[in-house]
Formats: sequence, C-alpha cells, structure tokens
Amino acid sequence: MKAVLINQYGTENELTLEEIPVPEIGPNEVLIKVHATSVNPIDWKIRKGIITGLKWEFPIILGWDVSGVIEKVGSGVMGLKPGDEVYAFPQLSRNGTYAEYVAIQADAVAEKPHTLDHLSAASIPLAGLTAWQALFDHGKLLTGQKLLIIGAAGGVGTLAIQLAKNQGAHVTGTASEKNIDFLKALGADNIIDYTSENFWEKMSDIDLVLDCMGGDAQMQALLVLKPGGILVSIVGINSAVDFKSKDIEPVFFMTKSSSVQLMQLGRLIEAWKLKPVIAEVKSLNEIKNAHRLSEEGHTRGKIVISIPQ
Ligand SMILES: NC(=O)c1ccc[n+]([C@@H]2O[C@H](COP(=O)([O-])OP(=O)(O)OC[C@H]3O[C@@H](n4cnc5c(N)ncnc54)[C@H](OP(=O)(O)O)[C@@H]3O)[C@@H](O)[C@H]2O)c1
Repeated sequence: MKAVLINQYGTENELTLEEIPVPEIGPNEVLIKVHATSVNPIDWKIRKGIITGLKWEFPIILGWDVSGVIEKVGSGVMGLKPGDEVYAFPQLSRNGTYAEYVAIQADAVAEKPHTLDHLSAASIPLAGLTAWQALFDHGKLLTGQKLLIIGAAGGVGTLAIQLAKNQGAHVTGTASEKNIDFLKALGADNIIDYTSENFWEKMSDIDLVLDCMGGDAQMQALLVLKPGGILVSIVGINSAVDFKSKDIEPVFFMTKSSSVQLMQLGRLIEAWKLKPVIAEVKSLNEIKNAHRLSEEGHTRGKIVISIPQ
C-alpha cells in the first residue's frame, strides 16, 4: 500500500510517499481501507520532534483521523463487519492514517454519520473528541454557563462552538477579523478580534475557558474567569499563572479514543446540529503543503486529505 512516512524528525521534506505492506490486524482490531484522513497540529509537532516522550521507532506513519470502509475484522471483534463505513481517531501509535490501509483497535471505531461523505467525516474524530472531552468530561459545561474559547476558528474551536451552543451555553470566542462573521454564523454569541481587542478587558465572570492557544492566554484567562471557574487547556498548563488565587484547578488532557463519543457526535451531525468545517482538501502527494499550511496556524477548521480508491 501507499503511505506517507517519516524516517527521522525534521521539516516537511521528511514526509515521503512509499510503498509498504498492508498492516496485519490483531484479534481486537479492524483493518480499514482509508478513504480520507486529515491534518491536525499534532502531526507536524510529532514530525518536528516537538512532542517528546514517544518511544516509537522509525519509520512513523503520521495522521490520526480516518474515514473509510472496514476490510477485515479480528477474531474478537463484535458489532463491526467488512463493508461497514466507519470513522475513527485511533490511539496515537507509530502507524497513523496517512496510508491506504490502517489497523485500528475496534473500540475506537464508530459508524460514519450517514449525512457525511468520507472527506467530511475525516475532519471530525480527533478535533470533535477533543472538543467534546474538553467541554463535557473536563469542563463540566452546563446550560446557561458562560464559555470563552481562545482560538475559536481552528479544528477544535469550530466544533466546540457548535457543541457548546447545543448545550445551551453562552459562547464567546477569539479569532481574527476575517473569521468573525463565519464563527457567528456557526452559533457563537460573540467573537473578539484578538488583533485589535483584548478579551480580558471585554468580559468577566466566565464559567469555563477552553484554551486552544497556550502561552500568555492563560494569564489573561485568569482575569476573566469567575472564582472557582474551570480552565481547560489542550496545549499545556502555564506554571507561571497563579490559578490558586482564584480557586481554580487548571486541567490539561490528551484526547482519548472513544467509539461511544464518536457515536454521540454522529447523532448530532445526522440531526444537523453539528457540521464539519473544511478549509481545504488535499491529496497525499500534497501532504508537505498541507503541513506547511497547518503550521502557519491560521487554518479555518480542518485540512482534509483525500485517498483515491
Ligand atoms: N491535548 C490534546 O489532546 C489536543 C488535541 C487537539 C489539539 N491539540 C492542540 O490544540 C491546539 C489547537 O488545535 P486546533 O486543531 O484547533 O489548531 P488549528 O486548527 O491549527 O488552529 C488554527 C486556528 O488558530 C487561530 N489562531 C491563531 N493564532 C491565534 C491567536 N493568537 N488567538 C486566537 N486564535 C488564533 C487561527 O484563527 P485566525 O486565523 O483567526 O488567527 C486558526 O483558525 C494545537 O496546539 C493542537 O496541537 C491538543
């Protein structure tokens, strides 16, 4: 099969399209014929060696989103069969989804929403599960609460806006001017242009901050959070910030695979309450360019990679 590999850490020039064997599956895994995958910032962070602690051997196949069709199921797999159209965020491993086939643990796989084609479905799993887990598992978001999303126009933020509005929250986000009308049309109550305004001077008594940016954002978030509020960061916790002064326990988490939560996202999608936001569709041959774009940090929604059948 064709797959995009890296044989060492480095620039996007390390991404090489190669012919390798189709992976074997274990008893609790399924083999998926990949129709589409997508680019997430973690792909280029791993490629550059920024994310430490991975003890994987090279070569590494990047990419952790898939929409495709099940080709084979392991002997212990229940409820999935060849021919099923599915989507998944496989647990991080060195065998990612920039490939024609991927072997994935069955409990990460859910039926693809019927209303989406594979290209749209591949934009959902990693970013959608991140938004879900940030808002509900860690952020405990309730109806009527005030949410601030720092970095609302990206892959995670565009889905988080919609999930939070479905929950009945009041949603403010930060983004640049070109995204203001777009994000309001997605449901945001208010978007603050971070290039011309300081959000910490415009709001107060926030129940939950979802930080998709890191850095100084948490220092500023502390100014707008109400005492006892929640800060969830998907980037990391800034240890220089005195969260205790406002009785806040900041949370950082790494997104977990979950077929159950993918089914919940799928139900919202099929009910037209959650829609994918796709900036661009590229091919595996254009993967270097896709990484460059993602790394620039101004993608609206997701960059999806189409795998021809
Ligand atoms: N912990 C986890 O498991 C986990 C999971 C998923 C993602 N992440 C991390 O979370 C971060 C966000 O992920 P993502 O997929 O949403 O990224 P993304 O899609 O690359 O985010 C791009 C967006 O960031 C916005 N942006 C750039 N600079 C900004 C600023 N100063 N203030 C506000 N918005 C700004 C841009 O909007 P404008 O064009 O309007 O500037 C753009 O739309 C990444 O660092 C990613 O690695 C972590």
